[in-house]
Amino acid sequence: MNEPRIPLIAGNWKMHKTIADAEAFIGALLPRIATYDGVEVGICPPFLALQAMVDSTRGSNVQVFAQTMHYAESGAFTGEVAPGMLTEIDVHGTILGHSERRELCGETDKALAQKVPAALEHGLTPILCVGETEEERERGDTERKLRQQIQEDLSRVPEDQLGRVVIAYEPIWAIGTGLTATPEQAQEACAFIRALVGQRSEAAAQSVRILYGGSVKPDNAAELLALPDIDGALVGGASLEAESFAAIVGAAAR
Ligand code: PGA
Repeated sequence: MNEPRIPLIAGNWKMHKTIADAEAFIGALLPRIATYDGVEVGICPPFLALQAMVDSTRGSNVQVFAQTMHYAESGAFTGEVAPGMLTEIDVHGTILGHSERRELCGETDKALAQKVPAALEHGLTPILCVGETEEERERGDTERKLRQQIQEDLSRVPEDQLGRVVIAYEPIWAIGTGLTATPEQAQEACAFIRALVGQRSEAAAQSVRILYGGSVKPDNAAELLALPDIDGALVGGASLEAESFAAIVGAAAR
């Protein structure tokens, strides 16, 4: 019998919240989620608020993630942040390959193939984002896109480490649009991703957590989180208010 996967609800704040805003948010969030059990909670603030959020969440059930990371230890990479800089301040992990980073900042599968193992080597939990565009879905290319991203981005992760990766399935047409994938679409894609991981390691496929992301809100979270291959959510817009984020955490709790 496999260990049950503990759901993870992660809030991707994107370029929102100053340090003062972040402190106000966490002050409102912690009492709302203090009694929830059987769920892991993550927040992904902008780099400048990471230290403050690590300090403010110490001793709580909230983990702090960055939104991106370089793979190198150091070097001439203006504007980038290295893995050791995140671990130095006790950051728990990082989002990698978010569609906005892929589209707007040129984050490639080639770079991700180095970033995912670099995060794991430093003890950081990567949340690797994958997903198709609207055109790719309409053309029937969803599985091809997911296969290409999963195979390339995880290509250098050793089999015994694969189960530590968190994968977020985020159909690009559902991000920030208010359009959510139907439960059938979300389950089908997440099951497909798990099967792809299973081609490398069946044990990893059973332990890898697959999140759904794309317009997750308090009123649709429970239905999505109940699906067999969905182990949590990566939440954008609805993670900016403590009340709505706590409601989504509650939907995942035991
Ligand atoms: P959204 O964003 O919840 O606002 O759609 C999700 C994401 O980009 O991770």
